[in-house]
Amino acid sequence: MEVVIVPDAKAGGELIAEAMAQLLRRKPDALLGVATGSTPLPVYEALAAKVRSEAVDTSRARIAQLDEYVGLPAEHPESYRSVLRREVLEPLGIGMDGFMGPDGTAEDVRAACEAYDRALSAAGGVDLQLLGIGTDGHIGFNEPCSSLASRTRIKTLTEQTRIDNARFFDDDIEQVPHHVITQGIGTILEARHLVLLATGAGKADAIAATVEGPVAAICPATALQLHPHATVVVDEAAASELELAGYYRYSYAHKPDWQGI
Ligand code: PGA
Repeated sequence: MEVVIVPDAKAGGELIAEAMAQLLRRKPDALLGVATGSTPLPVYEALAAKVRSEAVDTSRARIAQLDEYVGLPAEHPESYRSVLRREVLEPLGIGMDGFMGPDGTAEDVRAACEAYDRALSAAGGVDLQLLGIGTDGHIGFNEPCSSLASRTRIKTLTEQTRIDNARFFDDDIEQVPHHVITQGIGTILEARHLVLLATGAGKADAIAATVEGPVAAICPATALQLHPHATVVVDEAAASELELAGYYRYSYAHKPDWQGI
């Protein structure tokens, strides 16, 4: 995988937004896989600025959801569908007709998971999947010891993830659902380009394990090592535990055919 160390979150957001813009110029109906959480917000802000300045046209762009709470009504402000509408679709000028996501309120959740995997394939697959990472190394809601070959399915959140996400639910962990639908790790690995963004010292251990540790389900993000085109964008704080940080900087600075990431 390629590791790109940037000075701060804003620079990371700009770099990834430019990669998305280049993709959309090449392929105007590209399917962008997006993540929720605090980390990706600078990416969406930078991409929205490009849309406003007409540096990129999103009129045919499509957006795919990574994960969703089970049982929260779609119109709940913290359902990931609502969050993505607010933080991604509206700022980018993309309507719900350009959106695809799993149905977290389906009677038959298992069937809804399988239907979402099929829908992603039928849509031609995700072109670029943006990922965050949990302090425990989760990607999407694939918690530690998720199968590295997993498909979209229902998962139970760890207590730590529910604690981490309580900030979106009035700091009340009781309101955080126990169950989620998440694209599986095998599903995520089918995207053509994986871009993981991590910022802040709290992610440093997870990033060191992801980039330099052995591939192991205990740290789901290590599956990125199996992908032919995976980019890990980290700020200085998130890079602070990387043994080969000097090499990653050198390698990126000497990239022969520099085309973004
Ligand atoms: P965060 O979440 O960006 O809010 O830290 C990341 C994640 O849990 O995947």
